[in-house]
Amino acid sequence: MQIPDFIQRNEPLARYSTLGVGGKADYFANVDIGIRENNIGGICGASQQLLEAYDFARDKDLDIFILGGGSNILFGDLGFGGLVVRLRDDSGVNFSGRNILASAGTMVSELVQLGRHHGLTGFEFLAGLPGTVGGAIYGNAGCYGGQFWDTVERVYFFDGEYIHGQDASPDMFSYRTSLFKQRPNLIILAVQLKLKLLGKNVVAIRTRDVLRRRSGSQPKARSVGCIFKNPPPPCKVGAGRLIDSLGLRTVRVGGAMISKEHGNFFVNTGDATASDFIDLIGEARARVHGAFGIMLEEEIIRVGGF
Ligand code: EPU
Repeated sequence: MQIPDFIQRNEPLARYSTLGVGGKADYFANVDIGIRENNIGGICGASQQLLEAYDFARDKDLDIFILGGGSNILFGDLGFGGLVVRLRDDSGVNFSGRNILASAGTMVSELVQLGRHHGLTGFEFLAGLPGTVGGAIYGNAGCYGGQFWDTVERVYFFDGEYIHGQDASPDMFSYRTSLFKQRPNLIILAVQLKLKLLGKNVVAIRTRDVLRRRSGSQPKARSVGCIFKNPPPPCKVGAGRLIDSLGLRTVRVGGAMISKEHGNFFVNTGDATASDFIDLIGEARARVHGAFGIMLEEEIIRVGGF
């Protein structure tokens, strides 16, 4: 099978991660997913390019990695020896007045904007969160008392042969994880979201409040958000606070530094490599384990060779 013309060779991955590190992908495709609701309660339009990219990877026996906004991904310095498919959506959220359908490629910020514009509640907690809807489902993104799955009614995904629609249920999601993290062969295509009217003013106030809280406690420098999950009970203290309590803010390895604003954010000070971050993560984990006997688990997703 010939390489479809929308698939690039040797594409640098650093430009597709908010952290700005990583080697090259052997194959890379930017795919506009363009999902729409059909008139029998399903979806249509899972882009032809996505199917072609999938067939190409299968034909060449390549690993495939689906990328959203790259806001939770640490790409290895040795790159990815398969096909990276970056999903985006140029046509925006599909809001009919009765339903909200958002493709995996939709930016989360578009949902926040839609909520503000129409006075719909449920998306305020996402204000200021980078990344796409697909990524937010995959990792069940959460902050300020909310988690993404609270907003989800139905998820549409592709298993390599068929498109399925499944109602969201508690066994599909838990803290910072989802069915899709456990079964990476399933490609998230779209979600139908819960629609709750509240009023423009209240939604605007709540959104502003979240933005204010975020900017007061989280760094603006390049990062992938929180590196570690918070430890499970009985521990009552978050990973950031544990790291901070050991005086590790501003500790660095090469160009990677533990943020001065928050102990669970590690930032790229300009010229970091993935291996700087791996070493810094190892150092923080070892120090927390030594002091508290807690082994922190990573929330970020490592992709490719390190
Ligand atoms: N704190 C410190 N030092 C620090 C960091 C935090 O003392 O270096 C204290 C704070 O002052 C606060 C408490 O620890 O009293 C909790 O901090 P924060 O509100 O920042 O919450 P967190 O548990 O550290 C979680 C999520 C964040 C999310 C915030 C806000 C995880 C792993 N992290 O952080 O999510 O934005 O709550 O709701 O669950 C992410 O997942 O990428 C992420 C950033």
